Amino acid sequence: MLKIAQIQFNPKLGDCDFNLEKITTFLKMASNSDLIVLPELANSGYKFDNIDHAKSIANTKSCINYYRFLANFSKDNNVSIVSGYLEKDGDDLYNSSLYVSPNGIFGKYRKIHLFMDEKNIFKPGNLGLPLFSIKNYKFGILICFDYLFPEIWRIMGLKGADFIVHPSNLITQNAYKVVPAQAIMNGYYVITSNRIGTEGDITFCGNSFVSDTRGNIISEMEGNTEGVKFTTINPLLSRNKMITTGNHIFDDRLPDNYEELLDYKA
Ligand code: ACM
Repeated sequence: MLKIAQIQFNPKLGDCDFNLEKITTFLKMASNSDLIVLPELANSGYKFDNIDHAKSIANTKSCINYYRFLANFSKDNNVSIVSGYLEKDGDDLYNSSLYVSPNGIFGKYRKIHLFMDEKNIFKPGNLGLPLFSIKNYKFGILICFDYLFPEIWRIMGLKGADFIVHPSNLITQNAYKVVPAQAIMNGYYVITSNRIGTEGDITFCGNSFVSDTRGNIISEMEGNTEGVKFTTINPLLSRNKMITTGNHIFDDRLPDNYEELLDYKA
């Protein structure tokens, strides 16, 4: 069993000091868990004016030190954490998520599918679709709009993910339909941690949720409140891929029929 704590909150665009203080408060409330999941770009906010604006935020001390801050909290409180964050690597920016755990394990995923103006700011992720471990379980990370691309859900399932962690800044309700469907199709849990608040002309819709391996929403936060929500999942259920007594969702695939997929490149 794994006790998950989701943090839903309203970061302030560009004010990493303020955000880290707020995140610290919520991390303390969430620390009695195995894994804490924060939203996308939790340390920086989302709607940058342009790439120079994003770079100026990425260059602030508290933004640069976010990894160390999370790693220290993880070690001091014996809890693992996944958080979306603004990553600067050389001259490039990535919309990334960090995984830190008390034993020093560290992982990173960079968002592959960029949404709207993100294309003017970030490079698409170039670290593939890694799986990470916690206890004896394996999980993958997708970030927000990545959810719309079924191929990556499938790859993570075939690699053996027991659950997917999904830090988000969602602004439409589409994910609430797609994510549970992907949970059914791949037989794993999905943990979507979303933010709230408004930046410029966009409003984030909260409703952080957990889908079980059969697409049932087993936990959901409200649309416009900050807080922490605990949910215990049993990732071993993800190892049962029988959807009926006669159907295994992975073994029943017939990939010879899917080869055409590779012909369709944008
Ligand atoms: C999104 O990918 N932040 C909608």
